[in-house]
Amino acid sequence: MQSSPSRPSLLDTLAHSAVQRALAALLPCVQAGTLPAPCLLIDATAGNGHDTCFLASLAQSCALPQAVQVHAFDVQQAALAATTARLHSHSLQQRVCLHHASHEQAQALLPPALPIAAAMFNLGYLPSGDKTIITKASSSVAALATLLPRLAEQGVISLHYYTGHAGGAAEAEALLAYAAALPPKLWRVLQSHDANREHAGEGLLLLEKLPRKRLCPPA
Ligand SMILES: C[S@@+](CC[C@H](N)C(=O)[O-])C[C@H]1O[C@@H](n2cnc3c(N)ncnc32)[C@H](O)[C@@H]1O
Repeated sequence: MQSSPSRPSLLDTLAHSAVQRALAALLPCVQAGTLPAPCLLIDATAGNGHDTCFLASLAQSCALPQAVQVHAFDVQQAALAATTARLHSHSLQQRVCLHHASHEQAQALLPPALPIAAAMFNLGYLPSGDKTIITKASSSVAALATLLPRLAEQGVISLHYYTGHAGGAAEAEALLAYAAALPPKLWRVLQSHDANREHAGEGLLLLEKLPRKRLCPPA
């Protein structure tokens, strides 16, 4: 969230690679018809559109164009305008739906009965925007609870959190508590967190829905 000298940051890159891995595992299921098409990639916090563009480029590079749809949410019109501009500047607007809404409303706004392959949260405030508009513990946990049941097996949710702003540490704690209580037979929960910063550290939670049985041919 903070303006960073190098983007994507190391944690963003970890999140992207987890999303790429999930999609690579699920696409053969979509192509084989074991999973309904299209599968969904979600940017729960569109912000300046970097992650939305990343998801849209994955969708566009997919062999079967109808196999993937991207949905991005933000509560700020300014964020959606920035995301739209970034998508257009990279010709990535196809197959992306933007929602001017809180991610808590995802269940009502996403097309029903389609599986979620991956969802990304990059929490906090819009860099170079209004820093009083931030993601909050209660709505972030509610959004997570909404998305988890729709996540396909082998799908992943990434949560990039920050603790340097008011409410950030509480939000991270609430998300970690929620994620840590998920049953280990069904979920793998990983955390990467700054180990050498006492203040304003940041981290990444990755939640993978474990496969119960092989759903589709190996990729
Ligand atoms: C750190 S920025 C996201 C950065 C973005 N992923 C990118 O790649 O540029 C956090 C965004 O979350 C948005 N936000 C805050 N509360 C939200 C909510 N309840 N639902 C959706 N977005 C929210 C803010 O408006 C802000 O744009």
